[in-house]
Amino acid sequence: MRSYRVWEHGAPSSMQVDLLPDLVPAPREMIVDVKAVGINFPDTLVVSGKYQVLPPRPFTPGKDLAGVVRAVGAGVEGFSSGDRIMAQVEHGAFAEQASVPPSQAFLLPDGLSFEAAAAMGLVYQTAYFALVERGQYKRGETVLVGGAAGGVGLAAVQIAKGLGARVLAGVRSAAEEAVVREAGADAVIDLSVADLRDNLRAQVHAATDGHGADVVLDPLGADFFAAALRAAAWCGRLVVIGFAAGDIPTVKVNYLLVKNISVSGLQWSDYRDRTPELVLKVQQELFDLWRAGAVRPRIMRVFPFEELPEALELVAQGKVQGKAVVSIGGGAA
Ligand SMILES: NC(=O)c1ccc[n+]([C@@H]2O[C@H](COP(=O)([O-])OP(=O)(O)OC[C@H]3O[C@@H](n4cnc5c(N)ncnc54)[C@H](OP(=O)(O)O)[C@@H]3O)[C@@H](O)[C@H]2O)c1
Repeated sequence: MRSYRVWEHGAPSSMQVDLLPDLVPAPREMIVDVKAVGINFPDTLVVSGKYQVLPPRPFTPGKDLAGVVRAVGAGVEGFSSGDRIMAQVEHGAFAEQASVPPSQAFLLPDGLSFEAAAAMGLVYQTAYFALVERGQYKRGETVLVGGAAGGVGLAAVQIAKGLGARVLAGVRSAAEEAVVREAGADAVIDLSVADLRDNLRAQVHAATDGHGADVVLDPLGADFFAAALRAAAWCGRLVVIGFAAGDIPTVKVNYLLVKNISVSGLQWSDYRDRTPELVLKVQQELFDLWRAGAVRPRIMRVFPFEELPEALELVAQGKVQGKAVVSIGGGAA
């Protein structure tokens, strides 16, 4: 089977395609014929060597996959060969076969394609945990989403709308504005303005009758973080998800005190590893939102296996609105 592998950290094009023997399931693991892979921003960090969790080289990167169970190891319950599943793994998805712990796999509902499932993994789980678990969102509140046309951001817009929020979507181009409006955003916040520090608050207050944002979901960091803190409502909650804008900001704690604001962080993979039962419950809720039509992963482009490095490069350059997906072995069904 073919597998992309990182021998030396570097650009996506530095990954090598290696021919490896078919995988054999270890006890309490299963082997999946991968049909589709979702590309995530953290994949670019893993390949370049800038991510916090890096396995010894050579290794196969890739976190989001959908496919068909090929074989199950001893002690695996609830899955059998032929099952259509999606899974989020720490590494190993960028290959024709992947080893998956059953606690990280979910049976696909009828009608959800492999490609949509691969696009609906990590970013939707992350957005849901950020909004509900860390952000303590309550139905009807106002949610401000930074980087709202990106993978996590667009998932957050759809989930928040599906859960009854008023959604303010922060973007920085007209093309992104069209994407978030299509996803149901109630108001669009322009993040390209020169004076974001004051202007963000002015825009959020204009869109909320001076109330501010009850929950802020921040995958950007940098200037957005400080500005969004000032745009939070009384008792607002800001959730740090990532630093796609580059810089890691610091908190001016006087803001927290003055408006009773909370800042929390989210590292979704910790939930995956420590509380798989909660992750499973969230996945069922995400499937329910999908069945209700509230959640529809936006796949910007489907790439063939051979062009996986190009997909990764586009994500690294921030040129993907929604998700880039790689199809493997005729994976559309
Ligand atoms: N904590 C967790 O568990 C977890 C899980 C998944 C992801 N993450 C992190 O979350 C972040 C986002 O991931 P993603 O998959 O959503 O990435 P993505 O698909 O590349 O989206 C990033 C978005 O941020 C926007 N952006 C970048 N710089 C900006 C700036 N200076 N001002 C305004 N917008 C800006 C991009 O817009 P443009 O197209 O205009 O550049 C893009 O829409 C990453 O840092 C990732 O590592 C964290």
